[in-house]
Amino acid sequence: MAYVPDIFIRRAQLSDCDQLARMCEALWPDASAEQHARELALILEGKPVTTLPLIILVADVGDRMLAGFLEVDLRSHADGCNPSRPVGYIEGWYVAESYRTRGIGRKLLAAAEDWARSQGCIEVASDTWIDNEVSQRVHEALGYEVVDRCVHYRKTL
Ligand SMILES: CC(C)(COP(=O)(O)OP(=O)(O)OC[C@H]1O[C@@H](n2cnc3c(N)ncnc32)[C@H](O)[C@@H]1OP(=O)(O)O)[C@@H](O)C(=O)NCCC(=O)NCCS
Repeated sequence: MAYVPDIFIRRAQLSDCDQLARMCEALWPDASAEQHARELALILEGKPVTTLPLIILVADVGDRMLAGFLEVDLRSHADGCNPSRPVGYIEGWYVAESYRTRGIGRKLLAAAEDWARSQGCIEVASDTWIDNEVSQRVHEALGYEVVDRCVHYRKTL
């Protein structure tokens, strides 16, 4: 397990792109690090891919070494939330394996919630995969309640 002296939660910068892309690939392996890097570069250069506000927070453990990230944006509505106002939405949340269970995920999430509050939100929402029990335990430990469970279908036409 990595020693974590001081963790600094900050907004991601363009110079973080390569490290971020590798973490995105670990979280969302359907796309390669190179594909993630292209999308991240647009966001970090301030050329957002959506019209709603979106930020990427990183956990910097010193010398610009990243231990994790969290991507949060605004959605116009989210399951179980008041539809009359936008909701902060946790789109991606990842801490590198050797840094887990040290409070870094909690710090990233707290910073995301502060950002959502600053955008006028009174609720924040998230989702995870049905078989990701750790993520479910962590969400619950940090005050998130289950509002829905979905089964997704497809059919070739
Ligand atoms: C989910 C994740 C980001 C949590 O990061 P983390 O830095 O390990 O989380 P923290 O150490 O801040 O823990 C936060 C809380 O969750 C609890 N928790 C952490 N890991 C846990 C585990 N494996 N089982 C049960 N509870 C756990 C902690 O006890 C803590 O609560 P406490 O402060 O009351 O003790 C990390 O496990 C991860 O990256 N997982 C893989 C990617 C993923 O599943 N992302 C979420 C879905 S998008």
